Amino acid sequence: MVAVAILAAGRGTRMKSDLPKVLHQMGGKSLVEWVLGSLSEIEPVRRLVIVGYRSELVQQALSKLDTSEAYPELEFVEQTEQLGTGHAVQQLLPHLQGFEGDLLILNGDVPLLRPQTLRLLLQTHRDRQNPATILTAHLPNPKGYGRVFCNGQNILQQIVEDRDCTAAQKQNHRINAGVYCFRWQDLAEVLPRLSAENDQKEYYLTDAVNFLDPVTVVDVEDYQEILGINDRKQLSTAYGILQTRIKDNWMAAGVTLIDPDSITIDDTVQLEPDVVVEPETHLRGKTVIQSGSRIGPGSLIENSQIGKNATVLYSVVTDSTVADGTRIGPFAHLRGHAETGVNCRIGNFVELKNTKLGDRTNVAHLSYLGDTTTGNQVNIGAGTITANYDGVNKHPTTIGDRSKTGSNSVLVAPIAIGKDVNIAAGSTITEDVPDDCLVIARSRQVVKPGWRLKSRQKPD
Ligand code: UD1
Ligand code: CA
Repeated sequence: MVAVAILAAGRGTRMKSDLPKVLHQMGGKSLVEWVLGSLSEIEPVRRLVIVGYRSELVQQALSKLDTSEAYPELEFVEQTEQLGTGHAVQQLLPHLQGFEGDLLILNGDVPLLRPQTLRLLLQTHRDRQNPATILTAHLPNPKGYGRVFCNGQNILQQIVEDRDCTAAQKQNHRINAGVYCFRWQDLAEVLPRLSAENDQKEYYLTDAVNFLDPVTVVDVEDYQEILGINDRKQLSTAYGILQTRIKDNWMAAGVTLIDPDSITIDDTVQLEPDVVVEPETHLRGKTVIQSGSRIGPGSLIENSQIGKNATVLYSVVTDSTVADGTRIGPFAHLRGHAETGVNCRIGNFVELKNTKLGDRTNVAHLSYLGDTTTGNQVNIGAGTITANYDGVNKHPTTIGDRSKTGSNSVLVAPIAIGKDVNIAAGSTITEDVPDDCLVIARSRQVVKPGWRLKSRQKPD
């Protein structure tokens, strides 16, 4: 039986931010969400999050998470003053009173841990039956991390924080990852003994580890997993590692990425085989792209569904749905739950907002359609605008199957255009139009032969 505690009370001073460090975003999720995600291969009976600095923000952010997961509810434990990682864990004492099992403790700022690594740590801990088992790594640049000293059998002798190390101790590149498995009863016994006699005047969780014996040390194979985020530079390094992982996975799954370094993909995105992602393209949020589609160059797709064999060229698509075979761009913007039919063409400088297009409908040039519903095979002429906003409210426009709007027409909503309608170029349509007709709503052209400005008229 294992409970999990995540340390997330610190401000993260080195981030120089108002936002608590653990809420900083990395590839579509906050740091602490990543940490929660790394628990997917162990089955915790309880999940405790220690919160402190702006705890209401952290709780709010985490309570929005998908609760459908087969996990116990998150329990928030308040650490009102942040007196160190040991002090943070001391706050668990009343909450875990009588708990007989193991406690896995994770720092909230270590987002790249693989679920298998935690499973292995827990397995080793259970096999050895020790009071504690900790995760370590050999870092090329161990600066800032606690150093771990062991005997030849991987039994811990001591952890010393970077700032408390002698020059000789700093030469040790084996570091404490901030990931620990404790037999809770043993930890609970030593927690009250911590003191703050160190360079930072903080209560260190690492001292609790030092009190226990024997403690087994487990090395992580890929040291990148345990990188802790303390400042913006480390956040960007971790993001780079995450991006490499995500992109390598998609390429292995049959997605072509052209110039991957110029592409970013959130962890929450789903791609099918034979998707092609072109340079300078960014895929974010809950986006799904189906096979045969080609996205980019130069596109941003966010929280959107793209069907099969679609193309999106130099365009922005947010919160929208693009059906099979539709071609978007260059320079189009779909937003606010825009939805296309199959085989549509959304062309140059077109904006669709909360608009639903039927199949084989084209909006090829210079248009704004807002709150509009069209039938199938509609052709929206160049420069057609729906005037959907009267300054107070938004109003809907509907356009029936096979209708065509002329260039530069304005449809003043609320308005309904029937099927098989032709709207003459330059019309301003203010009244509903029935099926099967031509509508012209513009003043007639007047030609006055021989007319000149009076000033130019020569006196006889
Ligand atoms: C800690 C470890 C260090 C290890 C490193 C790995 C200690 C004393 N040191 O150092 O050995 O190499 O992690 O990343 O534990 N927090 C609280 N309450 C507090 C203080 C911190 O909840 O009072 C939380 C922070 O929000 C953070 C985590 O604990 O998520 C780690 O704190 P941080 O100050 O970053 O510890 P490090 O100095 O990195
Ligand atoms: Ca840290």
